[in-house]
Amino acid sequence: MTRNNRLTICQISDIHCGNARFIPDLLDRTIVEINDVDPNVVVVSGDLTDAGYREEFEQAAEYIGRIRCENIMVVPGNHDARNVGYIHFERLFGERHSVIDLDNVVLVGVDSSEPDLNDGQVGREHYDFITKTFSEAQDKLKIFIIHHHLIPLPGTGRERNIIFDAGDILERLTQAGVDLVLSGHKHVPHSWKLEQMLIVNAGTASTLRVRGNGRPCYNIIEIEDGRVTVFRKYPFKRQELAVSFNPRTQDYLRFDEKVGAGFTGQPGY
Ligand SMILES: [Fe+2]
Ligand SMILES: [Fe+2]
Repeated sequence: MTRNNRLTICQISDIHCGNARFIPDLLDRTIVEINDVDPNVVVVSGDLTDAGYREEFEQAAEYIGRIRCENIMVVPGNHDARNVGYIHFERLFGERHSVIDLDNVVLVGVDSSEPDLNDGQVGREHYDFITKTFSEAQDKLKIFIIHHHLIPLPGTGRERNIIFDAGDILERLTQAGVDLVLSGHKHVPHSWKLEQMLIVNAGTASTLRVRGNGRPCYNIIEIEDGRVTVFRKYPFKRQELAVSFNPRTQDYLRFDEKVGAGFTGQPGY
């Protein structure tokens, strides 16, 4: 795999095992579809559980264990930090901050959760790790994974979803030449471009915890010749082109609805 070759990333988020609106068929189907795609990397961007309980984590681990991919990055979300859930996370998924370093792409995942709070932050003690890892990656494609939002999203009600230190993190990431940010949290699929960085938010893959006319979905991201193209995939249903961006040339094409994709759209799949 090189920057000039094709790299496929599947991003699922907010699967929320244990929640009353968790739909097992949706997650079963999502995993079958991901295995058919045969991606190079799978990202699970937090909120694996409803309340951080052991049984919920074990259920999530059983599902994620069915994904056939050598490179799976899992970060915790605010729901996973409830009830001291982070000890189950660490036992089943390893470090809460992690790196996947491949030939021409590096992914840095961080834990933005705080025990028993919905708010989040990265925290200054982790800034050097982030900056150092991306600087050592030199000209590799740089991807940052975080559960919470770095920029507010439309269709999420009163703003309370960006991390406390969003400004400092955005500054660090843009200075480090990060190409792509992958987040979850409010179950609203969306994207923003900031300077030379594309910030992509995933919906919930496997729950009916959606807002407005939103539908369960996940992201399939194709990277080819440095161009990042994001497809939104609805389990059992169609796939649609959401956004395409080349961080090097700044060529930017957006195909989804301008305001709150899935929020103002038509109901149904
Ligand atoms: Fe969530
Ligand atoms: Fe969340």
